[in-house]
Amino acid sequence: MNHFHYRDGKLHIDETAVETVARAVPTPFYLYSQGEIVDRFRAFDGAAKRRLKSHLTCFAVKSNFNPAIVGLLAKQGAGADIVSGGELLLALKSGIPADKIVYSGVGKTAEELKLAVETGIKRINVESAEEAVLLNEIAVSSGKKADIALRVNPDVDARTHDKIATGRAENKFGVDWTRARELYRDFSAAAGLNPVGIDVHVGSQLLEIEPFAETFERAAQIARLLRADGVAISSIDVGGGLGVAYKPADAALSPDAYMETASRILGGEDCEIIFEPGRFLVADAGVLVSRVVRVKQARDRRFLVLDAGMNDLVRPAMYDAWHNVLPVRQGGEDRIYDVVGPVCESGDVFGKARVLPEMKAGDLVAIETAGAYGAAMASNYNFRPLCAEVLANGGDYAVIRERQSMDDMLKNTRPAP
Ligand SMILES: Cc1ncc(COP(=O)(O)O)c(C=O)c1O
Repeated sequence: MNHFHYRDGKLHIDETAVETVARAVPTPFYLYSQGEIVDRFRAFDGAAKRRLKSHLTCFAVKSNFNPAIVGLLAKQGAGADIVSGGELLLALKSGIPADKIVYSGVGKTAEELKLAVETGIKRINVESAEEAVLLNEIAVSSGKKADIALRVNPDVDARTHDKIATGRAENKFGVDWTRARELYRDFSAAAGLNPVGIDVHVGSQLLEIEPFAETFERAAQIARLLRADGVAISSIDVGGGLGVAYKPADAALSPDAYMETASRILGGEDCEIIFEPGRFLVADAGVLVSRVVRVKQARDRRFLVLDAGMNDLVRPAMYDAWHNVLPVRQGGEDRIYDVVGPVCESGDVFGKARVLPEMKAGDLVAIETAGAYGAAMASNYNFRPLCAEVLANGGDYAVIRERQSMDDMLKNTRPAP
């Protein structure tokens, strides 16, 4: 499954040497493996297919919204999990049919809800009673009935980083699960709403099965209660969250282990099970390739200063996330470096005390596991351009996003009055 490997001491992606891409594309750039994305989708979706009567795998577009990648997954049969009107248009444009799109988010605007209703997407995952009232008005005035699921907050501790845990009572997401029956009664009476599903998502980067199991149990329990109330629940959306190994010591769950638990708990519910994986499908498929600007010797440490910064990959600064840093060319004596970016923030650090072969200005490194929440969370901070993205497959590669130019960055600015 691993499409990144060393050959003759040089990092390759399939048949292509990373150095070859770096001669043609300005660094830093994201480099993705098409094969890895396809393998991952097949592993996930195949594990579901083998165990469940009916399911849909909706790629969480927020994790990587490059249209070439969304389009690649569309061709594999993926649907999309979206969280904004922009992602809805992007998913459609990338080839995902409306009847495979599910829409979550606590702050959907009237305009976004109208777009979703008019497009006729599969599910609007409603996150509050207030949102449901607005959605009903919009659907009625458009002469439509929106297929909805209530996102319930199951009050489960996902045992992940605080900033990506979403299923505890104190989080803003969903509605307290104990209110589900009351709300579905209201939904059933609303002319513009067709309550057909339940939705949960407890967090991202989960490495243990127990929080998933607890969540699935809660979803099954709610489905049974609602059915007893006469609500025709036909889908249970269990969100995303399947984690990946960022550190060598991380033990990620396999899609088979995850699906075994899903089918054991939800398989008998006579519902379509909807999954929203993001990170699992694309994180390991991408690296951020960066060039050493200089090696800076300080009193007690050596800094490896890269041309990639926290604006390109914010996860270490934002979540204290660990990403492996690999040399693009092996060889040379080991040295210890603090690997940092050029951004004017002390938090612009990719890793401390990392062992790498001796490096000099111009050498290349690859920051691993950067395919999810990497380019998607990049910014222009320090007035730095969004970097290029490249997709490699076998012996070929293609630029799937050009690096921003200065003109691109200034395009929508205007002089002061
Ligand atoms: C509602 C929802 N679904 C799916 C995902 C994707 O999660 P992951 O990338 O961990 O699979 C997220 C991400 O936080 C989310 O908020």
